[in-house]
Amino acid sequence: MNYAVIGDPISHSLSPIMHNANFKSLDMQDSYEALHVRKEDFHNIRNIIEDKHIVGFNVTIPHKESIIQYLDEIDDQSKAVGAVNTVKIVDNKWIGYNTDGIGYVSGLKQIYPDLANAYILILGAGGASKGIANELNKIVQPKLTIANRTMSRFESWDMNFNAISLDQAEQYLDEFDIIINTTSAGLDNNDDTVIKLDNLSSSTLVSDIIYIPYKTKLLKEAELKGNVIHNGLDMFINQGAESFKIWTGKQPNLKEMKNTVLSKLQGV
Ligand code: ATR
Repeated sequence: MNYAVIGDPISHSLSPIMHNANFKSLDMQDSYEALHVRKEDFHNIRNIIEDKHIVGFNVTIPHKESIIQYLDEIDDQSKAVGAVNTVKIVDNKWIGYNTDGIGYVSGLKQIYPDLANAYILILGAGGASKGIANELNKIVQPKLTIANRTMSRFESWDMNFNAISLDQAEQYLDEFDIIINTTSAGLDNNDDTVIKLDNLSSSTLVSDIIYIPYKTKLLKEAELKGNVIHNGLDMFINQGAESFKIWTGKQPNLKEMKNTVLSKLQGV
């Protein structure tokens, strides 16, 4: 069977090596490729995918929202987030899923087992934040707190949470067990940090959904203070693992997926 990830840019995607290593370790003959699909060609997406006999694919920037109009069905998580990162094709029917939030949360649960009772602060209010918040809301009892630079971004959110400003987040930082950065501050080694960590409690877990760089400035600052830190690598691995389960109904070889990506990251 053929699988793919579509995006623009796409050449640096680690999804093909991760999925192909998993297929190989499970003795599966399937293959997974990166497909460069530009916005101007996107109207042709059904033909592009069907010509290659692809039965399942991942969707990344900038197509996670625009894919929805080409789908026959989407699951509840995709509806809540307004974005799809996984498509399964069955009998010519295209079904959309979003595995980013569950991917992140299953990784977090492993390093913070008592997630149900955690006081959590999420920084950012984009698609990634919404997906994670929606998944956390299913299992976390205390109300989530979400901080963003632009408060008007919360107006369209249909969810139960405390909305605060970044200034308030800095001020009340010591009240949280877990802080999750979903903003793009720190991506690609830009030197922005979304908030100052002066009021960080030493027992707070500081997490960032970014994994390139492996430690953002925020994570480095938290680590210097002695806090436990967690980057976005598990989210990446687990979203891929969840997609694989949707496509095949099988259990993936998570260890192989992680080791393959880790060795590639160490090589760059
Ligand atoms: P995604 O869908 O990947 O989550 P997005 O929708 O572009 O990405 O959202 C990016 C998030 O990062 C937003 O919350 C954005 O804040 P605004 O809503 O105020 O734009 C946040 N963000 C990006 N750069 C930031 C910076 N330098 N400081 C603070 N917040 C930042």
